[in-house]
Amino acid sequence: MNKASDNIIIIDFGSQYTQLIARRIREIGVFSMIEPNNLSLAKLREINPKGIILSGGPESVNQTSKLKLPNYFFDAGIPILGICYGMQLIADKFGGKITSSKQKEFGLSYFSRINKSKLFEGNKTSKKFKVWMSHSDRVTRSPKGFQIIGNSTNSSISAFSNEKLKIYGLQFHPEVTHTTYGKDILKNFCKKICKCKSIWTTKNKINEIIHYVQDTVKNERVLLALSGGVDSTVVAALLKKAIGKNLYCMFIDTGLLRKNEVHDVENNIKKNLKINLITINAQKIFLSKLKGIIDPERKRKIIGETFIRIFEKESKKMKGIKFLAQGTIYPDVIESSASSSKSDVIKSHHNVGGLPKKFNFFLIEPIRKLFKDEVRKIGMELLIPHELIGRHPFPGPGLAVRIIGTITKEKISILQDVDNIFIEEINKANLYNTISQALSVFLPIKSVGVMGDQRKYNYVVAIRAVKTVDFMTANISEIPYSVLSKVSTRIVNEVPKVARVVYDITSKPPGTIEWE
Ligand code: XMP
Repeated sequence: MNKASDNIIIIDFGSQYTQLIARRIREIGVFSMIEPNNLSLAKLREINPKGIILSGGPESVNQTSKLKLPNYFFDAGIPILGICYGMQLIADKFGGKITSSKQKEFGLSYFSRINKSKLFEGNKTSKKFKVWMSHSDRVTRSPKGFQIIGNSTNSSISAFSNEKLKIYGLQFHPEVTHTTYGKDILKNFCKKICKCKSIWTTKNKINEIIHYVQDTVKNERVLLALSGGVDSTVVAALLKKAIGKNLYCMFIDTGLLRKNEVHDVENNIKKNLKINLITINAQKIFLSKLKGIIDPERKRKIIGETFIRIFEKESKKMKGIKFLAQGTIYPDVIESSASSSKSDVIKSHHNVGGLPKKFNFFLIEPIRKLFKDEVRKIGMELLIPHELIGRHPFPGPGLAVRIIGTITKEKISILQDVDNIFIEEINKANLYNTISQALSVFLPIKSVGVMGDQRKYNYVVAIRAVKTVDFMTANISEIPYSVLSKVSTRIVNEVPKVARVVYDITSKPPGTIEWE
């Protein structure tokens, strides 16, 4: 193997917390990637990580269909930390005993350290602390050569280790913030045990991306699909730094954008980034391709494909474009591909899953390894103004996934007006920056109302606002009733085709942020 690089891989066994592990490790300043449990030996050698974390997962090691880990992971001599199901896999491999139970231990528990371990070294970890549990199976006999290093309220073996082999198991979830010393424990694993350096900093990320782009693109021209959102704006700034005037930006007006978005994006980008921008009005073609389409996944695929085709057509008019750049980020990649065979594909994000199989560009996605907050930090480091970096995300397929059912010009126009009022009012109430994402949804139903002594039978719209750090989980924003009521009064008064406004109070999970 080559010299190990300063990174940790997380093997995904389908836990809802897998991404969180990756984020926590990166917060420590160590690069981490999520990989499937069938990662080949050749790929493992190529990545050559300094540490391996085995995630939790819904399976039981006592099932015959259990998700396994090939032996070469254990034979590689790389430190391993197994969390929950990951711990049980280690116990199984080294001859421990796992007892299945129908009853799930879920939520807070108290963990007590017994015996010394490098995992708990150096930090101020008290002898007893709060931990987050989510499991039904438990280890009831420690594997050979392993010492028990902690127990908890409901389990006598909550952590074990083989300090010589550098293999550790934790029944609780250190990646969840409810676990008091979770980050310290992960830090000990990455830095004290795996000896990773904290070199995953914003400055280094920028340099790495710029070198990658320069090495890949050389003197060729790049066309960037700019949406005006945070991700593609940051990509534009990075590409401008990397390749200067060889960057061409194209903004496709799909007709599925927010009210005044075309004008706002053109102004912002030209004024703040001083980048050449070509806007293509493709409203008619998107509308005709989407005619009669109800299924959300079909909408996404059609929009993804139409996007690329328009880019191909328009770029032919501009001579010598070889690369197409996109602002795809890491959660888009994970959610579209499902790294473990056990986690479901949630949605095909249009800049990943919606891509047609054949197209005539080399694709370059400079921020595809980054989480949203990392992208924002890069934007700040590149001095992109807050009005651009602080914008709420807007999905690639735009209002198409906020109009439930078929899409028509009339519905788009109604939703644009509704959304505009909602955003205006949360801005007026100084709430915009306290909300992570606010959106409106057009519902395919009509409802009865009264206006000025007249019966009204018209559309229903939903408004939704969420608070989240990573967009993987989200809580609803607690907008004051006074603001909600103003929003609803304005919508019903100012948008004639709307008779009723409802507020979506579903968190994620179980809901997603978008309705489709
Ligand atoms: P969900 O609805 O999956 O959304 O909870 C999470 C975040 O992703 C955005 N989103 C998308 N962004 N293309 C995108 O570029 C898409 O197809 C897409 N679908 C959802 C969504 O707005 C939220 O910020």
